[in-house]
Parts: sequence; structure tokens; C-alpha cells
Amino acid sequence: MPCKGRIVCVGMCVLDVIHLVEQYPVEDTDKRCLAGYWQRGGNASNNCTVLRQLGAPDVEFMGMQSASPAFSFLYEDCRKREICIDNCPSTNMDPPFSSVILNQATGSRTIIHSNPGFPSLTFEHLAQLKLTNYGWVHLEGRNPESILPFIRDIRAHNKQLKDPRGRIRISVDLEKMKHEILELGEAADCVFLGKDLATFLGWNKPEEAVMGLYNRFKPQRGENNAKPAIVCPWGADGAACVDAHGNYAFVPSKPVQKIVDSLGAGDTFCAAVIYALHMLDKDLQEAVQFGHAIAGYKLAYRGYDDIESFSQGR
Ligand code: FRU
Repeated sequence: MPCKGRIVCVGMCVLDVIHLVEQYPVEDTDKRCLAGYWQRGGNASNNCTVLRQLGAPDVEFMGMQSASPAFSFLYEDCRKREICIDNCPSTNMDPPFSSVILNQATGSRTIIHSNPGFPSLTFEHLAQLKLTNYGWVHLEGRNPESILPFIRDIRAHNKQLKDPRGRIRISVDLEKMKHEILELGEAADCVFLGKDLATFLGWNKPEEAVMGLYNRFKPQRGENNAKPAIVCPWGADGAACVDAHGNYAFVPSKPVQKIVDSLGAGDTFCAAVIYALHMLDKDLQEAVQFGHAIAGYKLAYRGYDDIESFSQGR
């Protein structure tokens, strides 16, 4: 595979404590689960896991790490999977965590997230990354005050390149229901728009969502007046997408036979789309099809490890 430049995913590393139950519990009852375990989670951290399972050779996670010895498995798991964490700042605080209920009866996953004041990445942390190492930068849509100046630095870096093959592409995952994160999308090359955010913004159909956001974005001056491509997964139906030139498509997904673990299926989709665009040079619609195939496959297995088998069978 030709050298494509490292993919870095910027965001959170979270402890996921997972309970698999037969039925969703009734409030104020005391029940045993079918299985209980914990794993490393968080959107960007999951994106890295999936990218490695798909075969991306050079993947980095960039986010605040907990140096608390009780949670050392979080960074050991990154090391084991050869996800670079060399540039992560650390804190002595315990990591953010999520209590997750996987309901076997319906396949749903219910997440209760706890993040009591865990420090965020600052622009200064991000400014330490040596941009020439990277080919793709994926960002969780949060902390615009730190992320936006970082995106501007990447754009300035791209502009001064003599060889356009060294250009860094930027994607942003917009999930949080906050208006101010939309600014991050406008500055990116590719936006993942969450369905919940889309409906929060008043768009109740997938086409309305991607075209609504696309029309809201101003063209990027000095970048051929391009706009970001947008992908919006719409539950089990599929995903809407619009490319940088305004071509819209709805890409349906195949119904899945079996749901074993839906935790992180969205992060899997997002990582697979990035993999297809960056590593496989697919166009947007093909990349979304690939994202559906990987996310659909993942649903039948616990965790992310089995994704490797899909990639081997390709
Ligand atoms: C799944 C996930 C979990 C994490 C939660 C954070 O998408 O990244 O791993 O606990 O979301 O919101």
C-alpha cells in the first residue's frame, strides 16, 4: 500500500463499562446481566481502533489521557494495537467513563456518560503536532476555541505546500447539540453530521439535513470556493451525502441479520468512510457504501476486533 500519511483522530478516550442484558431493566430492580466487561471507548479513540482493524498502518490518537494507574489499560490497549499516543498530554484525574446497557432483546445501546471536569485539549497541545507527518486529521466537534485555530494552521500548511500530494485532509464529527460547533464543519473538507444534531437544527429528513447544512456553509475562499462534503447517517435506513460540488445522494444500507453489539457502530461507520476516502481513494458514495458494509458487519460482533476479518475477506 502506498504511503498515505498518518491519520490522527482528535478527541476523547473514555472507559466504557458495558452490561449486556436480556431485557432493558425496570427502574429500581436488582438484576444480573448476561455479560459484563469494560473496554476503551470514546468516539475518536474508537475511530482509531477501527482504522487499525481495517489495516491503516499509521494511526494516532490525540486527546487527554488519564495517568491514573488504575486505568493504565486505556493506554496499554492503544500501545497493543499500535495506535500512537506519543503526543497525548496527561492528567492525574480519572478518565471520563460511560455506563452502557446493551439490550439483547432489541439490539439497542443506552449510554450514560460521566465527564466531571476532565481537562480538554488546548490549541497549544495541538500546535505541537508536526503537520508534515499527517495525511488526514479527524476531529470530534467540540472545543471550537482550540480546534478552529488548529484547522486554520492546517489550511495555512496546505497552502504553502509545493507538492499538493502532501495536503492534509480534515474531517469533523458533528454530534453535540450546540450551534457553535457548526463553524468547525464549515472549515473542514468532510463533515459527519449526526442525526440527532440534524433534527435539533430542524431538519427532519436526510436530504433536508445534508442540503440544509451544505447551503448554510459559505464557500471556502482560496480553496476553489469548495464547500465541505457532508455525510449524515440516518439510522438503519442508510446515509445521505453531498460532495464538495453539491451532488446529493442517499446511500441505503442493507438490513442487518443480527445485532450483538451496537455500541460504537457510528464511530465504526465514520472510521470506515475515512479509510475508504484516504487509504482506498474511493469517491464519496463508494466510501459511504464501504462505511455501511463495515458498520453492518461490526454489529454482529462484540467490540471491534472482528472487523479485521472483514478486511481480510475483502
Ligand atoms: C460510542 C462512544 C462510547 C463512549 C461514548 C461517548 O460512540 O464513543 O465509546 O462511551 O460514545 O459519548
